[in-house]
Amino acid sequence: MANPEDNLFKNVISHAKEYGFIFPSSEIYDGLSAVYDYGQNGSELKNNIKEYWWKFMTLLHDNIVGIDAAIFMHPTTWKASGHVDAFNDPMIDNKDSKKRYRADQLIEGVIEKLEEKIEKEVEKAAKRFENFDRAMFVSTNARVVEYQKKIDEINTRMKDALSRSDMADLKQLVIDLDIADPISGTKNWTDVRQFNLMFSTEMGSVAEDANKIYLRPETAQGIFVNFLNVQKTGRMKIPFGIAQIGKAFRNEIVARQFIFRMREFEQMEMQFFVKPGEEMKWYEYWKEKRLKWHQALGLGNDNYRYHDHLNLAHYANAACDIQFNFPMGFRELEGIHSRTDFDLKSHEKYSGKKLQYFDSEDNQNYIPYVVETSVGLDRMFLSVLASAYHEEKLEDGSDRVVLRIPPPLAPNKVAILPLMKKDGLPEKAQEIMNLLKFDFRCFYEEKDAIGKRYRRQDAIGTPYCITVDHQTLQDNTVTIRNRDTMKQERVAIAAVKSVIQDSVSMAELLKRI
Ligand code: GAP
Repeated sequence: MANPEDNLFKNVISHAKEYGFIFPSSEIYDGLSAVYDYGQNGSELKNNIKEYWWKFMTLLHDNIVGIDAAIFMHPTTWKASGHVDAFNDPMIDNKDSKKRYRADQLIEGVIEKLEEKIEKEVEKAAKRFENFDRAMFVSTNARVVEYQKKIDEINTRMKDALSRSDMADLKQLVIDLDIADPISGTKNWTDVRQFNLMFSTEMGSVAEDANKIYLRPETAQGIFVNFLNVQKTGRMKIPFGIAQIGKAFRNEIVARQFIFRMREFEQMEMQFFVKPGEEMKWYEYWKEKRLKWHQALGLGNDNYRYHDHLNLAHYANAACDIQFNFPMGFRELEGIHSRTDFDLKSHEKYSGKKLQYFDSEDNQNYIPYVVETSVGLDRMFLSVLASAYHEEKLEDGSDRVVLRIPPPLAPNKVAILPLMKKDGLPEKAQEIMNLLKFDFRCFYEEKDAIGKRYRRQDAIGTPYCITVDHQTLQDNTVTIRNRDTMKQERVAIAAVKSVIQDSVSMAELLKRI
């Protein structure tokens, strides 16, 4: 039987296309794998998410400033950052299905299944015993202890093989765990090979190796190489942060699940420069702050959880994800990383330029430590879109699809709808549009029956519909229909702005954090 969650995800994807949010890239040529275009409503929603992030960082923190660095960077940047040597994923092919996988993800799949088994045991026991003590149960129940032991063993072996880049060992683990290809069902695997995720191209007209440059796989390096430029010109004092929103590119081995894992995507990253030794304090601080930023959107606090990294990236001494409950389950939405002084130190070594901060309070020079917050804009988009999507049965037996997008993020704030296309109603509606358009993104429509127009606005998440009817011409009042409650109230045109203002205001949303 089809999983209802899969169906829901499929419906969200086709809705996104049908209503101008997301189109497959170059669709007339059958698309390009894991690359997508944002349509007229998608770009508005995306811009609003960016605004929410940018204002949180740069308006609410007087020690954070924003930059916009180029995508192309000097190729040595990527040698220094470790990406040339270490930004690899271990790939493995199944010879029968000819499908390619990430070996570490196949192994993690086994771990996830064992974790599910533990959860089932816990759930069963919790139902049986009053005053159930989870910690006690998982440390004493023989079956759970066995599962946990197995998880720990697998993790240790995988971590060890990855840290030594020992691909033969990793393949052995796949064999020992008896992993079969989900498509062919066979265990006919190739060797595991390291695959570098960076896209490269040539700069200039001569295609020599020396001209090889990369499309940045993370925006962070544009901040690191500009650390002193910003610190000096902005007279920034530690602790301070630099924020940036921009494109990143990764040649993902397994790119699927719509815009969750793309080959071209956008990141919203902030590097926070701190005094060495204080990084764990700031790491905890940003973990908490970022979670609050997500929760303020009102998508449900239970839909977020932290997930600590077991396998740390080459630059980190602590790292965790904020995971979101996407239609396919809890997955990484944002990463919070304590990156030590790895990047600045390495850029200092490779460039021969000092990248140090003079701390006038301590009268000493040092290379700052960095705590980074990094959230994928496209994943944020998916989290908002998927949780906003609702299929509803109404009291009169009809159906509606409504996007309950947080109003400050909605592509349009107000739709202005003359009840009829005659009797001066369109002209009056245009008058109201001219009044409101400087404050809110408005949408004007006069075609089709009013009910149909309401449904179309529900489907793109417009929080308010203003209907102009014959009474409007007499007493300068309109009806305002609320997307979520579908209730209508009659208000004076002069009062419309104040009625909707607070609920769609980005400032009010920011105040909730
Ligand atoms: N500078 C650190 C960094 O790039 P990351 O965990 O690799 O860390 C940060 O990426 C965030 O970027 C992720 O949490 C995710 O939201 C987003 N992201 C990473 N790869 C992505 C992809 N292929 N498609 C869409 N978003 C991606």
